[in-house]
Amino acid sequence: MLIFIVKTNLMIFLVLVSLTVYLCCFFFVQVVRARLEERGICVKDVRLNGSAASHVLHQENGLGYKDLDLIFGVSLKDDQAFRLVKDVVLDCLLDFLPAGVSKERITALTLKEAYVQKLVKVCNDTDRWSLISLSNNMGKNVELKFVDSLRRQFEFSVDSFQICLDSLLLFDRCSETPMSESFHPTVIGESVYGDFQEAMDHLCQRTIATRSPEEIRGGGLLKYCHLLVRGFTASSEADMKQMQRYMCSRFFIDFPDIGEQQRKLEAYLQNHFAGMEHKRYECLMTLHHVVNESTVCLMSHERRQTLSLISMLGLKVLAEQNAIPTVTNVTCYYQPAPYVQDINFSNYYIAHVQAPQITHCSNSYQTWLPCS
Ligand SMILES: *[C@@H]1O[C@H](CO)[C@@H](O)[C@H](O)[C@H]1NC(C)=O
Ligand SMILES: *[C@@H]1O[C@H](CO)[C@@H](O)[C@H](O)[C@H]1NC(C)=O
Ligand SMILES: *[C@@H]1O[C@H](CO)[C@@H](O)[C@H](O)[C@H]1NC(C)=O
Ligand SMILES: *[C@@H]1O[C@H](CO)[C@@H](O)[C@H](O)[C@H]1NC(C)=O
Ligand SMILES: *[C@@H]1O[C@H](CO)[C@@H](O)[C@H](O)[C@H]1NC(C)=O
Repeated sequence: MLIFIVKTNLMIFLVLVSLTVYLCCFFFVQVVRARLEERGICVKDVRLNGSAASHVLHQENGLGYKDLDLIFGVSLKDDQAFRLVKDVVLDCLLDFLPAGVSKERITALTLKEAYVQKLVKVCNDTDRWSLISLSNNMGKNVELKFVDSLRRQFEFSVDSFQICLDSLLLFDRCSETPMSESFHPTVIGESVYGDFQEAMDHLCQRTIATRSPEEIRGGGLLKYCHLLVRGFTASSEADMKQMQRYMCSRFFIDFPDIGEQQRKLEAYLQNHFAGMEHKRYECLMTLHHVVNESTVCLMSHERRQTLSLISMLGLKVLAEQNAIPTVTNVTCYYQPAPYVQDINFSNYYIAHVQAPQITHCSNSYQTWLPCS
């Protein structure tokens, strides 16, 4: 990974401070870090990642940010290290409970249920990291990621930014003079895309660019469509076509089965559209268009099946927001897919569906036929 730029910009500093104060987690980070070190786990650095980092660098970027994504650079050489990290975080969490909550009565288990949204551990040849995602009462999550190694650190250039918080943390710990506009530490931002300036230009001009999309799990396909909906575009038609082909290819390799595709899509819709639910339909139709355009190598049955799924979900989100358009323009998207069984859109629409019987196909056919 290469470091490209040093930012001493005051705006960055101010935004960082307000972000962290707003989420009340700056102090929490300090405590987690100190306790990890007490227990022999050295923290190389702490970084702000992803959309929150993009937000700090360029606020009008159109991406918004939902979660505060923090990366702790640590060494996780064995299972015990993983466990230690988790225990330390849960322990710190216990100390941060609001006054009045009886700590004796809270077990690690109830604590986990109340505050921990997600616990993830990944440990293989290339990737060693764990994630503890905490939710606060404002619906924002704080994702604490403890990363030993992670081969692919970004999806698109616009979310490849990381901002190193160490100088702020150190300042906070050691300086007797409080931070001010004229007295504050240098904050370093970098892009794991490889070229900071280029990534920054992409962010300002809303350009979609990536490297080797076939390396991203799911190909980055859903995020790509989401970026399109938010007004981002590829730099050229050729670029777009190529990206789409790779992304679709990887998506169908990772999610070959229609049930998995449905779960993946529903989870994405659920997790990425808070406060902008009305955009879900547009995103699905964009996805429909991309899949239709870029999966020429897919077997036609599978392609139809996936396109139907996307249409059904589109109709479902419209129904949820009570925005079913006139029947005429629904019909062109509407292809009943009876194998999509647990979709529940209002009974009103179900009533119109003449579902043909489709027998379940075996899973043994080849899903992706490579183009050559
Ligand atoms: C940082 O955020 C990006 C974009 O959300 C994500 O792809 C990447 O995995 C994150 N990096 C780490 C180390 O978690
Ligand atoms: C390691 O795990 C990650 C996340 O589950 C996965 O994307 C990656 O392909 C795995 N790598 C290997 C070599 O198995
Ligand atoms: C799908 O793509 C084909 C050409 O590849 C086009 O004729 C058709 O109109 C497209 N369908 C939709 C719903 O976009
Ligand atoms: C359906 O058609 C109506 C009127 O023609 C239009 O206002 C509406 O935007 C269309 N809806 C969609 C989802 O295309
Ligand atoms: C389907 O959705 C409706 C309204 O959202 C709800 O009342 C009903 O219980 C749901 N049915 C099932 C089977 O989930």
